[in-house]
Amino acid sequence: MKQWEDFWHQTSMVSSFGLSGQQYGYPKAIEEFWCAKAATYDDGDTLLDLACGRGALALLLADNAQQSHKPLDIHATDAVAIDMTSVAAEYEAYKRITWNLGCDIANLAYAQGSFNRLVSQFGVEYATLNKPLLDSLIGLLAPAGSADFIIHSASSAISADSIQGIKAIERVFHSGIFLKVYQELTSSGARQSLAEEVQNLFNNLAKDSLMKSWLDDICASFLRIIDAPAERTIVLLDRLATNLEQTVTRLQQQLSVAHSVEKLEALLQPYSGVVEYTIERVVVDGSEFGLHLHLGKKP
Ligand SMILES: C[S@@+](CC[C@H](N)C(=O)[O-])C[C@H]1O[C@@H](n2cnc3c(N)ncnc32)[C@H](O)[C@@H]1O
Repeated sequence: MKQWEDFWHQTSMVSSFGLSGQQYGYPKAIEEFWCAKAATYDDGDTLLDLACGRGALALLLADNAQQSHKPLDIHATDAVAIDMTSVAAEYEAYKRITWNLGCDIANLAYAQGSFNRLVSQFGVEYATLNKPLLDSLIGLLAPAGSADFIIHSASSAISADSIQGIKAIERVFHSGIFLKVYQELTSSGARQSLAEEVQNLFNNLAKDSLMKSWLDDICASFLRIIDAPAERTIVLLDRLATNLEQTVTRLQQQLSVAHSVEKLEALLQPYSGVVEYTIERVVVDGSEFGLHLHLGKKP
C-alpha cells in the first residue's frame, strides 16, 4: 500500500484520474455514467464507494443526490488513511459522507446486507478480486441490491497509454540525461546550450511519436530544473527520478490489475445463483475506457 500512500501524499487531486478542469477529475462522460446510475437509486438507499481514494465518486454522488432531492446514506472507504483536509475545505458534500479510511477492502467490518448499492471507480480490482473478496462484497449487498464497478480493462486506451508511459520513462533513464544534466549544472552551468541539448535529445527519443506526450512532460520537467537556482539542482533531479520510478510502478500495477470480459465472467460464473451480472465496455471519446461490471443481487 506504500505506493498509494505516496501517491495521495504527493497530490491534492480529488481523483486518481486527475483530469484538470473537471470538478471530480473524471471525464465528462464518466460523470454522466454515474449520474445516470444514480437516477435508478431509491430514496434512503445506503451506498458504499469502495477504494474511494480522495472520494471523487462519493462526492459526485452526494452532490447529485442533493441536486435531485434524493436522500442517500453514502459511505466511502479506502485502504489508505488519506489526508482529506483539502476535500473538507473545498467540497461541501464532504460532511454528508461517512468516511472509513485506512481499511483494506478485504477486512471491512460492515454487517452483512448493509448496503443497497456498491460502487467503485477503478478501485475494487486493486484488491485481489478472488472468491473470498467476492463472497464478502456480495455479502455486503442487501437482497435486490446492486453493485456497479468500472474496472481497468487490458484492452483500453488507458492501458495502451500506460504501456507507452513505461517505455518513455525507461528510455529517459537509459538515455544518460540525468547524469548529463547533473554534470553540466554542477560544473559549467551553461544553461542556455544545455536546454537546447536536452530539447534535441528528447526530440530524438520521441521519434516514434506514440509516447510523445509522456516525453514532452518529462522534457518540460528537465527544462524547469535547468531554469531553477543551481543550489536546487540535486534535490530537483532526485525528486524527478523518484517521481518517474513511482510512476512506472503505478502504471505496471494498473496494467497488472486490468481485466478482460472473459476473466470477469470466469470469476462470476460460480455466483450465478446469487447475482445476475452484465459486463459492458465503457467508451469515452470513441476509445475503450474500462469495463462496467454490474451485479444485481437476487431478492
Ligand atoms: C486508481 S485509485 C482510484 C481511487 C478512486 N476510486 C478514484 O476514482 O479516484 C485506486 C485506489 O484503490 C485503493 N486500494 C488499493 N488496494 C486497496 C485495498 N486492498 N483495499 C482498499 N483500497 C485499496 C488505493 O489506495 C487507491 O486509492
